[in-house]
Amino acid sequence: MKILVTGGAGYIGSHTIVELIKAGYDVVAIDNFDNSYPSVLESLKEITGKEIDFTEMDIRDKSALKTFVKNTPGIDAVIHFAANKAVGESVALPLKYYENNVGGTVNLLEAMQEAGIKQIVFSSSCTVYGEATPPVDENAPILVAQSPYGNTKQICEEILIDQSKATDLTVVALRYFNPVGAHESALIGELPIGIPNNLVPFITQTAIGKREVLTVFGDDYPTKDGTCIRDYIHVVDLALAHVAAIDYLAKQKNEEAFSVFNLGTGEGNSVLEAIQSFEKVSGIKLNYKIGPRRTGDVVQVYASCEKAFKGLGWKTERSLEDCMRSSWKWEQALATKENK
Ligand code: NAD
Ligand code: WQD
Repeated sequence: MKILVTGGAGYIGSHTIVELIKAGYDVVAIDNFDNSYPSVLESLKEITGKEIDFTEMDIRDKSALKTFVKNTPGIDAVIHFAANKAVGESVALPLKYYENNVGGTVNLLEAMQEAGIKQIVFSSSCTVYGEATPPVDENAPILVAQSPYGNTKQICEEILIDQSKATDLTVVALRYFNPVGAHESALIGELPIGIPNNLVPFITQTAIGKREVLTVFGDDYPTKDGTCIRDYIHVVDLALAHVAAIDYLAKQKNEEAFSVFNLGTGEGNSVLEAIQSFEKVSGIKLNYKIGPRRTGDVVQVYASCEKAFKGLGWKTERSLEDCMRSSWKWEQALATKENK
């Protein structure tokens, strides 16, 4: 099978390409390098031993995308990662997010329809649940989105549902909880551009000396240690779920045209537990301080992953310590590269 991966140079896309190739799939990848670098293609070649079939392409360019998809023979399914993902930026620049995340998805669906491609795996997010009672399963209500970014994920899911009703498109929407970690080779990982918003890159950048101090956003929440609870999932486990989702669609295991699965570990960890885990695997005492709460943070969220276990035959295999160990190895590899 040949899989088109949009956003293939990005964090989750690059790890998924590795696992697809390992599982024997042919991959065609596109990306506009809005939030990634061409050097990832070299790293992918080093890991997989294969040249990646890659084209620089912006999915907002509808006619170029249509031509590309039509002229690339044999695409059986698409995994659609390409999107902007910074929650704060989406509040300041909502149109950028609606144009790219929603407009880009519409363009892709049109291109797929014209080329007769009938299977898509879509990157959704636990952000669609907002503040829910954990463990959160797929039947939890979808709340009014807290940000334009979150709204784009809700809208895209709705577009995919409508399109799957109107045509013979089959869809798997994967709602990721908190993806962290990096490939064990330390050749690919997350590349936050500028000051990271997310916890784990902030931890590793503080440890390496790029940031002076990590601020823990609030320790007066009603949780075990007062800090927020999240479900941190290793990016390689996440990548493997995409391979399982492709297999699920290919073997027509889906009962409905649109299927949705949570992807998490099923366990919640606090911010302080994440820090302790990092300190344990790295042997470094992290410089952190307690600060005020961050506006918009939900108190606690972690997944019920029963549906993915039963439907996709998938579950996570990597621990929080594995996440921290690989993130730290990746940060150190980045520092070595920068110092060269
Ligand atoms: P990322 O930014 O590392 O990867 C996205 C890739 O898409 C980047 O390489 C970027 O250059 C590319 N891209 C963006 N707009 C494009 C366009 N118009 N045309 C072509 N390429 C474009 O992000 P990621 O963490 O790998 O996220 C992948 C997907 O998963 C996104 O849809 C994101 O919303 C979703 N998601 C991410 C998280 C997370 O915390 N990382 C959580 C839930 C959902
Ligand atoms: C995790 C915890 C912070 C940074 C975001 C998006 C969500 C999804 C995943 C895409 C929280 C705390 C963080 C820091 C801290 N992305 N923290 N100090 O907010 O759960 O989710 O990424 O779909 O949509 O909102 O992840 O990594 O930012 O925060 O104390 O410097 O770490 O308060 O409790 P979040 P995060």
